[in-house]
Amino acid sequence: MKSKAYPNLFKEGRIGSRVVKNRIVMAPMSENMGNGDGTVSEQTIAYYEERAKGGAGMIIVGSVPVEFPRGNGVSNTITLDGERYILGWNRLARRVQAHGALLIAQLYHAGNGAWAGATHGLTPIDVNTLTTDDIEMLKNKWIESAVYAQMAGLDGVEVHSATGYLLSQFINPAVNQRTDEYGGSLENRTRLAREVIKGIREAVGPKFIVGSRIPVHKWDSDNLTDEESIQIAKMYVEAGVDYLNTNAGYTPKPSVIYETGRYEEGGRLDIPAKIKAAVDVPVISVGMLKDPEMCDKKIEEGVLDFAALGRALIADPFWPEKARQDRACDIRNCLSCLDGCLENVFVDLPIRCAVNPEVGFEFERNQYPAPKKEKTVLVIGGGVAGMQAAVTAKERGHKVILAEKSDKLGGQLNLAGIPPYKQYILKYRDWFVAELDRKGVDVVYNCTVDKAFLDQIQPDEVVLASGSRPWTPPIDGIENAVQAWDILGNVEMVPENKKVVIIGGGIVGCETASYLAQKGNDITILEMLPTLANGLDRFNKQDIFEDFEKEGVKTETSVKISKITDQAVETEGGDYGYDVLVVATGQRSAGSELIDLLDEEDYSYRIVGDAQKTGKIITANVSGYMAGLNI
Ligand SMILES: Cc1cc2nc3c(=O)[nH]c(=O)nc-3n(C[C@H](O)[C@H](O)[C@H](O)COP(=O)(O)OP(=O)(O)OC[C@H]3O[C@@H](n4cnc5c(N)ncnc54)[C@H](O)[C@@H]3O)c2cc1C
Ligand SMILES: Cc1cc2nc3c(=O)[nH]c(=O)nc-3n(C[C@H](O)[C@H](O)[C@H](O)COP(=O)(O)O)c2cc1C
Ligand code: SF4
Repeated sequence: MKSKAYPNLFKEGRIGSRVVKNRIVMAPMSENMGNGDGTVSEQTIAYYEERAKGGAGMIIVGSVPVEFPRGNGVSNTITLDGERYILGWNRLARRVQAHGALLIAQLYHAGNGAWAGATHGLTPIDVNTLTTDDIEMLKNKWIESAVYAQMAGLDGVEVHSATGYLLSQFINPAVNQRTDEYGGSLENRTRLAREVIKGIREAVGPKFIVGSRIPVHKWDSDNLTDEESIQIAKMYVEAGVDYLNTNAGYTPKPSVIYETGRYEEGGRLDIPAKIKAAVDVPVISVGMLKDPEMCDKKIEEGVLDFAALGRALIADPFWPEKARQDRACDIRNCLSCLDGCLENVFVDLPIRCAVNPEVGFEFERNQYPAPKKEKTVLVIGGGVAGMQAAVTAKERGHKVILAEKSDKLGGQLNLAGIPPYKQYILKYRDWFVAELDRKGVDVVYNCTVDKAFLDQIQPDEVVLASGSRPWTPPIDGIENAVQAWDILGNVEMVPENKKVVIIGGGIVGCETASYLAQKGNDITILEMLPTLANGLDRFNKQDIFEDFEKEGVKTETSVKISKITDQAVETEGGDYGYDVLVVATGQRSAGSELIDLLDEEDYSYRIVGDAQKTGKIITANVSGYMAGLNI
């Protein structure tokens, strides 16, 4: 299992009494894929098995409530609160361990972070009103859950005392106002966590792994200093943990925990390094670890012992195996967009992924029957939807031709990756172009599909993925405006140090504003609706609005434009003078002429992505995948 390319990453490691086959840990991430009654579903098993098959050395199942349902953060959580859950967990453990990975359950209680919809009507608990009997009961719940995990054949448990849940609420002095032995000093505020660790260790013996996720000051508002984080680490080691897994504590800004594209890769490893120097158990840390080279180096330098990969393994479960085989360039990178994974958890749905259409669908995919015969498939359009349809159809054994009108693939990805912090979208485009090549899809560039072309190819099936085009609203004087697409797609059209008015404050309008603000322009966004950036996930939205404050981007909502002159936009609320006027008022599906042609010629076809309904990368991706899978 060694790797020449990344020898440190693929060196065996030790956690407690156990050997881990490499230094790659799947970070705990609530997948919200259970059966709804706390039991483990087939979807959950297939999802984790895929990551084990992909080569992760240890898998931590995130946020397993010790008190079901009062401690639930999400509805489809899987719990260990009772012996009735053991069988499902055993199935999960066996399927993961069969691929050589260890399986750990992260035991937690959401505390006041429990979502009322998930607690079956029970009121979430509050750190400050718990009696000492309540605390004793909760401690026992943790210990019992660990024992059930051991009975189910897991390799260990992790006590979750970070990211704002119950134990983290105890630690945070801004939340914990208790005056007894569980409040006040750091020792008191960590008392429950330490009692839980100690109690679990006593109950499960020395060989079962017991770890903890700990809050680390830099990313939170726990008011913890680095020194205090180190103190917590030392206290937990004394209580009996075999490893420490670092993350943020209690924070009002989610993108600090779940870093968006604006955070530096590996940028949060300084405190774990200090903790590692202070304790004698292995330290695991996350931190936008996307690049095997960086992980390898950080392990070699002694910054951490194990690299925890979260979203990177949602996006590409085979990240470890590809790295091991020195095929890092084949890894499908996570966009750090949070659009499918965390955004879904926040609305209490099972996770999905913008770039990996199989997330949560691994179980069903494995049941799909193989096609009865090889078909010739013509995909029209090389954006996300078309490229995904082509790759999936090719994987199913069909002959696939992808016809793209322009001289490059990617469609809107070529524009979407231009605004600040969207760099991963361009990497994704590059990955797809290489993937088409690896899979052997025949790409025809500068190709406008017409009757002659169809006659020549004679496809059995057509996938229409012609995307969308920007829409120009019928406003008097709109000819003075330039499309945001044209600015993003052409550096020569990018204004600098000008007064810019942007009509339309959706995702494209807001991100174009961010882009142009960085070029010294004075920006005003005019939006017809009462809110801005509709459709953008809540995490990036929070970030972009903070940027607007810093960059002085002015925004007006519920605006009614009456007229545009060559100098100003006239609205019911006043006039907005401009040097450059930009329009970003949405898109309309393209390709109706192709639908007419395909109907006339009586071809069997499916429409995917923006061509069917304007949406996002995740929609284009999943619809392309479904089209490919059903041929
Ligand atoms: C500036 C911008 C920022 C965005 N940011 C995000 C974001 O952050 N997150 C997100 O999820 N989504 C974002 N989106 C939306 C997302 O990029 C699109 O929804 C998605 O890429 C659509 O993919 P598609 O394959 O359906 O269509 P497209 O990307 O439009 O691709 C269609 C392709 O078909 C080709 N084509 C058209 N007609 C023909 C023809 N007749 N013959 C052959 N080829 C043809 C086109 O040249 C193009 O390559 C953004 C879009 C823009 C413009
Ligand atoms: C969908 C999702 C769910 C998460 N759930 C948990 C969780 O249950 N417990 C936890 O400690 N962290 C959770 N996290 C945080 C991750 O463990 C990790 O710290 C974070 O995603 C940053 O690492 P990454 O950049 O490698 O993704 C979650 C993250 C995501 C994206
Ligand atoms: S949804 Fe976005 S952030 Fe989440 S794993 Fe997929 S690509 Fe990464």
